[in-house]
Amino acid sequence: MNQPNWADQTIWTGDNLSIMRGMNSDSVDLICTDPPFNSNANYAAPIGSEAAGAEFKDTWSLSDIDVEWINLIENQNPQLFRVLLAAMTDSDKSYLAYMAVRLIEMRRILKPTGSIYLHCDSTMSHYLKLVMDAVFGHSNFRNEIIWERDPAGKGAKRTSKQWPRNYDSILLYSKGDQYTFRQQYAPLSESQKKVYRYRDERGEYKAVQRGDYSDKSMEKFLAANKVHTSKTGKEYIKYYLKDAQAALGSVWTDVYGFGTKTASKERTGYPTQKPLDLYKRIVEASSEEGDMVLDPFCGCATTCIAAQNLARQWAGIDISAKAIELTKLRLQNELKLFSNPIHRTDIPQRTDLGDIPPYNSAENKRFLYGEQGGHCAGCQTHFESRHLEVDHIIARANGSTDHISNLQLLCGSCNRIKGDRGMEYLRVKLQLVS
Ligand SMILES: C[S@@+](CC[C@H](N)C(=O)[O-])C[C@H]1O[C@@H](n2cnc3c(N)ncnc32)[C@H](O)[C@@H]1O
Ligand SMILES: [Zn+2]
Repeated sequence: MNQPNWADQTIWTGDNLSIMRGMNSDSVDLICTDPPFNSNANYAAPIGSEAAGAEFKDTWSLSDIDVEWINLIENQNPQLFRVLLAAMTDSDKSYLAYMAVRLIEMRRILKPTGSIYLHCDSTMSHYLKLVMDAVFGHSNFRNEIIWERDPAGKGAKRTSKQWPRNYDSILLYSKGDQYTFRQQYAPLSESQKKVYRYRDERGEYKAVQRGDYSDKSMEKFLAANKVHTSKTGKEYIKYYLKDAQAALGSVWTDVYGFGTKTASKERTGYPTQKPLDLYKRIVEASSEEGDMVLDPFCGCATTCIAAQNLARQWAGIDISAKAIELTKLRLQNELKLFSNPIHRTDIPQRTDLGDIPPYNSAENKRFLYGEQGGHCAGCQTHFESRHLEVDHIIARANGSTDHISNLQLLCGSCNRIKGDRGMEYLRVKLQLVS
């Protein structure tokens, strides 16, 4: 496990891919995130709301894909690559590639004991399940939580020729088989309570058959006044209502969405804001006090506010500059906390790679020269070592590192053409000039 290379209560404005690439591996306990859903809509906050000015796009085309992502996926995870090929439309393919490269980073930065909750809806949930299986491993799938946003049957939904689409799916994966999980409980329903129909000086109780309990155990229950004797003389064990709790299942119908709770004072107007209680439940179940919770698509920072509420450390990333404004407002309004979250726009520098030589050291150059057989990784021409330069495959400006796994040798000409861009750009340019 590594320490996070950022401070508690940090919000970044920027693309989460570059920022996560700069985060230490194995440093986050819990990721709870709600990315765009590929809903084929663009979102804007209502004018006049606290979130006015916030907007993000959720329409996708192949022009959104950096072809470098596809190469990366093809090389690193062929199974994941096959999932992308199974996507139905170019828009789906582009959305899944966008998510896949980010989910690879999310897995890397999670601690071996960490977990991730990925909020999605039926537009892409089944495809994302396959992507998650390929990234996290099918055996690390723990639950699909069904969150009923709104009770069915309101307004137009009642008349459409299909069942209402009134729930979201939240996919839970652990990184490995040791992970934090704290069972959550819900109060008993009215019908469950009705079974507690007897009463004594300790309160209401139900009478349950003794089952496998031995006579000796029954004597102990008797001594503690925990045996109920029926009119016919049969003995039952008393279970008290005050001790009763129902373990919460994976279908959640008790947290209302803003479709129902429109007047909620929690509402900032941020498009796609989720209820605080929903993410508090997740943070409570899958992290401990003091743990680091991250939301790389944080919006108006509902996950971060939930983490703050529950004494966890937190960080959020959003491409929209509105996120930091709303987080400050929410910390003040909801938690009466005048702390100032740290706002960053730079890419963090990883501190978990140990002592690595400078990227263009003779040592790296010698190693790479041997690996590439003396050929430029771009034009493939054979050069003497002194004519080759060390290049970052993913540029440092995009959050990558000086680690040898991100280095290659290029001839001076190829290095100039590529600059801070990806290898695909270089390949296309070389084809044009050949
Ligand atoms: C569904 S919303 C999250 C809403 C959040 N759960 C809340 O309660 O406010 C998705 C968010 O992802 C952000 N986003 C989209 N692409 C991003 C990227 N590449 N990096 C960081 N944030 C991104 C959008 O600006 C938007 O705020
Ligand atoms: Zn070259």
